[in-house]
Amino acid sequence: MTTVLFAAPALWAEYETELPKALAEAGVAAHVVTMADPAEVDYIVYAPSSPVQDFAPYVRTKAVLSLWAGVERIVNNPTLTQPLCRMVDPGLTEGMVEWVVGHTLRHHLGMDRHIVNPGHIWDPTCPPLARERPVTVLGMGALGSACAAALRGLNFPVTGWSRTPKPGCLHGEAGLRQALATAQILVLLLPKTPQTENILNAETLALLPHGAVVLNPGRGALIDDAALLAALESGHVGHATLDVFRVEPLPSDHPYWSHPRVTVTPHIAADTRAHSAARVIAENIRRGEAGEPFLHLVDRVRGY
Ligand code: NDP
Ligand code: OXD
Repeated sequence: MTTVLFAAPALWAEYETELPKALAEAGVAAHVVTMADPAEVDYIVYAPSSPVQDFAPYVRTKAVLSLWAGVERIVNNPTLTQPLCRMVDPGLTEGMVEWVVGHTLRHHLGMDRHIVNPGHIWDPTCPPLARERPVTVLGMGALGSACAAALRGLNFPVTGWSRTPKPGCLHGEAGLRQALATAQILVLLLPKTPQTENILNAETLALLPHGAVVLNPGRGALIDDAALLAALESGHVGHATLDVFRVEPLPSDHPYWSHPRVTVTPHIAADTRAHSAARVIAENIRRGEAGEPFLHLVDRVRGY
């Protein structure tokens, strides 16, 4: 019998039924527990708030399976010698697509001036068509590529940028400059790594077209906050919609809360959904037991 330690107590109520069910459907004979002798644990289901942070005693553990897509809070844990898999969940991806498309359309259509119009101003200015509104997505992984596909489906011309070359996608330093130069709406879906930290800084913000909108559902550390606030002050950046922050919850006195051209959402762009995520975890455990390669393995050197 395989022992799965569910080490994310705050989420247990959501997974208590879903995970055993998904394991049974995957044909894995396992018992899922919330406490166990570390020496007897085969798999650990992990979230950043997990009480398990020292992985050294888990000598027979075959993999640590993250419920989060972003793994920056575990990837450098020196006690972690076991394979680490991140979450790629269809439910999470759908949520991210909805958040990105929703906030893109808000800014593209200029919805705010009609939703809040205390002066009852009749301004019949029509927005351009989506085909006339270039969008750039930095990070063309599971989430960025799904968002890019959905935006393209609405006719937005989408430029993607990633670390490695991909068909129809920019990469590298020169590629980044090119991607930013046309970005009327910029979506950040990069992981937090030493290479991506502060990728949006005074220099790169200056490359954006005047009045560009920044959407950040990636990680707070991707943005140099002082540089973004300065760009908002000067009007170079027209609006920033931010879901993730260096410190979460965002402190109540942070200038983002009161800035008229910043929208704060409380890290809700995309949530891992227990029904589909349990199946992703179960499939990886099935693979581990069958000696097949794990899905969504994190490259510890790359950091994502
Ligand atoms: P993936 O690992 O699938 O994709 C990451 C993408 O970023 C890849 O395209 C990768 O390039 C690119 N990338 C990484 N480093 C660099 C670099 N130095 N330069 C250029 N491109 C780079 O991740 P996901 O799409 O699943 O998730 C992205 C992030 O979204 C997560 O790490 C997390 O921080 C955030 N997130 C936020 C949520 C929220 O609710 N706000 C929910 C879930 C995730 P390449 O393809 O070449 O490897
Ligand atoms: C994640 C997140 O990484 O919720 O899954 O941010």
